[in-house]
Amino acid sequence: MMSWPLDTTPFLWGVATSSHQVEGNNHNDWTQWEEQGHVPEKSGRACLHYEKYPEDLNLFAELGINAYRYSIEWSRIEPEPGYFDQNALNHYRTMTEAVMRHQMEPMVTLHHFTLPLWFAEQGGFFHPEAPQIFARYVKQVVSALGDLVRFYITINEPMVYAVMGYGNGQWPPGHKNLKEVWQIGPRLLACHNAAYHQIKQQRPNTMVGLAHHLLAFEPYNSRSRLDRYNARLLHSLFNGRFIQWTKHTADFIGINYYTRQYARFRQFLTPVPHKPDQILTDMGWEIYPEGLEKLLVAMKRYDKPLIITENGIATNDDRLRQQFLKDHIAAVGRAQNQGAIVRGYFYWAGLDNFEWAEGYRPRFGLIHVDYATQQRTLKDSALLYRRIISANQGRW
Ligand code: NOJ
Repeated sequence: MMSWPLDTTPFLWGVATSSHQVEGNNHNDWTQWEEQGHVPEKSGRACLHYEKYPEDLNLFAELGINAYRYSIEWSRIEPEPGYFDQNALNHYRTMTEAVMRHQMEPMVTLHHFTLPLWFAEQGGFFHPEAPQIFARYVKQVVSALGDLVRFYITINEPMVYAVMGYGNGQWPPGHKNLKEVWQIGPRLLACHNAAYHQIKQQRPNTMVGLAHHLLAFEPYNSRSRLDRYNARLLHSLFNGRFIQWTKHTADFIGINYYTRQYARFRQFLTPVPHKPDQILTDMGWEIYPEGLEKLLVAMKRYDKPLIITENGIATNDDRLRQQFLKDHIAAVGRAQNQGAIVRGYFYWAGLDNFEWAEGYRPRFGLIHVDYATQQRTLKDSALLYRRIISANQGRW
C-alpha cells in the first residue's frame, strides 16, 4: 500500500548533507557550543556550501543521482523569535529550483540537530510551546518551497539527538541526565506531529517522515539466551520506539544505517560497540552490511515504504568506501528480494563535511574537500556510485 507520490516516483538514488555540516558561517546553538570549546574544531566556513551549492550540484549531477537530501537551517530562517528572514527563505527556494533543474528530487530536512540560539536559550524542545513554535517555522518553509518539495523529514535522528544532548552531554545543551533523555522523546514526538499536520494542511500530497538512526543490535555471544534477549530489548527500545509512536503521522520510514552494536549480559543498557580485532571505520564503527538487510526486513512489519535516508562510511581509504558501497547496496537488493519495500538510497555524504563533536577528521564524502582551498575532487567511490546507479536505473 503506497501513496502518492512514491508510486509514481522512480527509485531515489541520492546523496545527503545537513546545513550546519556543510554551509559554513552559521550562528546557532552549535556554533555557540563550538565557541565554548566543547569540541576539538569549530565548523567555521565548513564547505561554504551556502555559496558554493551551484558548484556542488554540478558535481552531484556527475554522479547521475536523481535525488538530494539537505536541511534547512532554522537559525537562518528565524534568527529572532517570530521574525522570518525573507532572504534566507529565498536562498533555499533558489537552491531547491537548482536541485530540480538538475533533475533531482529534493528531500528537505527541517531539523537536523541545530537550533536558533533564542530557542535553545528558552529550553529548546523542552519549551512548553515547542510544537507551536516548530510548526510556525515549518509553515514558513512550506509556504516558500511547498510547490517544489514532495519529501520532508521533520526531525533527523530523534534518539541520537536525545542521547547526545541530554544523556552523555557531548552535544548541546550538554546535559547528562538519563531522565531527560526519556522526557525529551515525547516532546520531539509532539513537535514531529505538529510539523506533520502543518505540512499536510498546506500540501496534502507530500510525503512526510522522520530519519531514524537504526542500529543492528546483536547478541555478543549468540549462544547466550540473555544476550539474545537483551539484543531484542535494545532493538525495541532504541529502534522501535519512535517508529511505533509515529505510526499514524509518517508516510514512510527514513532509515539512517551505519553499524551494529552488541548486547552483552549485564551491559544491556550500554551496548558494546565492537569486538576486539575488528576492522573499524574512522568513527570506530564496525562495517556490517548484513545489518542493513536485517533491519530492512524487520521493518516490513510497519507496512510503510522504506527510504534509506543515510548510509555511509568515514575513511580515508577510498577502496574501503567502494567496498562499503557495493556491499550495502547489495544488502538493500537482498532485502527487496525478501519483500522489503525500499524506495530510495541516500549516501552520506555528498561531500566531506563537519562531523559534529569529531570535527573535520572523519571524511564521509564521495567528493573530497580540501578545507584550506575549498577545492572539490571526485573520489573513485563517486564514480563507482555512478556506475551502480546507471546499472540499476529503472530496475528497482
Ligand atoms: C547521522 C547524522 O544525521 C549526520 O549528521 C552524521 O554526520 C552522520 N550520521 C555520520 O555520523
